Amino acid sequence: MGILTNRRVLLGIGGSVAAYKGAEVVRLLKAAGARVRVVLTAGGARFITPLTLQALSGRPVHEDLLDPAAEAAMGHIELARWAELVLIAPASANLMGRLAAGLADDLLTTACLATAAPVMVAPAMNRHMWAAAATRANRHTLEQRGVILLGPDEGDQACGDSGPGRMVEPAELVATVARHFGGGPLAGLRVMVTAGPTREALDPVRYLSNRSSGRMGFAVAAAARRAGAEVVLVAGPVALATPPGVERVDTVSAADMLETVMSNLAGCDIFVAAAAVADYRPAQRRPDKIKKDAAIMELALERTPDILATVAMVEEGPFIVGFAAETRDLERHARDKLERKGPDLVAANLVGDKQGFDSDYNALTVYWRGGSRDLGRATKGELADGLITLIAERMIEQG
Ligand code: C5P
Repeated sequence: MGILTNRRVLLGIGGSVAAYKGAEVVRLLKAAGARVRVVLTAGGARFITPLTLQALSGRPVHEDLLDPAAEAAMGHIELARWAELVLIAPASANLMGRLAAGLADDLLTTACLATAAPVMVAPAMNRHMWAAAATRANRHTLEQRGVILLGPDEGDQACGDSGPGRMVEPAELVATVARHFGGGPLAGLRVMVTAGPTREALDPVRYLSNRSSGRMGFAVAAAARRAGAEVVLVAGPVALATPPGVERVDTVSAADMLETVMSNLAGCDIFVAAAAVADYRPAQRRPDKIKKDAAIMELALERTPDILATVAMVEEGPFIVGFAAETRDLERHARDKLERKGPDLVAANLVGDKQGFDSDYNALTVYWRGGSRDLGRATKGELADGLITLIAERMIEQG
């Protein structure tokens, strides 16, 4: 999708176990369209080979400050000028100390001193080293100078400890880089969101529908807009204001919604099906109001078109996110939906009395083939931001 097309990123890899993840950072930056040059510190080179990084970046890896061939053309200055952004991932405690002290004792620290580009640092170290007073002071110094610290995350560490010190995951680092350049992780992308219920007419005055308020879908549309996307919101009948900057098309029935979605699909990069589309509709729409003559009335219902499944069948179609509202067996139903309908992600929530329909709160867990992420319980706005970030990460991951 190229959200980093032709951006020039200098990636520094320091001496930490997490250096092996540097390979993934290179791969994801390249997949997003960036041009990447890698500078490996001596410590970094003990954990990952230059050959791996060269193969992934498509360019020779830079290691030596005093390499006569490179320095004939003032290699360190040339690299520093070339970079639009310097990302150091992972940064060891030692590397942070050298940067904070302003040392220029290897190619990476020298390039950092020489560059006018912003510098982002993703620390990775044992939690006690991260908590040490010296590291805290170095971090403070770097931040004072405008260096952007990314993380670290908390969790299990290679040394067996658990706590803050893990390098932020590569996909998240690359999403942050994309945000830095584009003003949003979805800048330049077109997103379509369906939201709300549908109404299936029985006669001119009656219909079948459901309790969906449309709030989750509207929150997703607003979050996608905040993330820089162009957004079309295909809404069922709801009583909600259109989020700022979002184009809205109102629809009524499932058939109506399907037609609107299909006619707006060209050029769409992401499709989020948050609408609670009616599964059945009256087999016949009576032309006149039904009279209450019979003691018992039977209704014949037929299936409505499945909008998500129809979009999923389009060749070269968008990245697709479905929703699943369940009253039990959340994961099983969500994974079943992934296989049956073919979306890339399914955002699933347990619906009950306290959340889900007509509430500002929800709890979402997102599933994809081979993974999941629990976004926790939060406002629908916060969950929508989390979902959008995850969509951007998954798209980068899928290349
Ligand atoms: O199979 P189920 O209806 O539970 O799947 C829900 C997902 O499918 C939601 O993303 C919903 O918007 C979408 N859907 C659809 N068209 C239908 C039924 C559901 O797009 N007719």
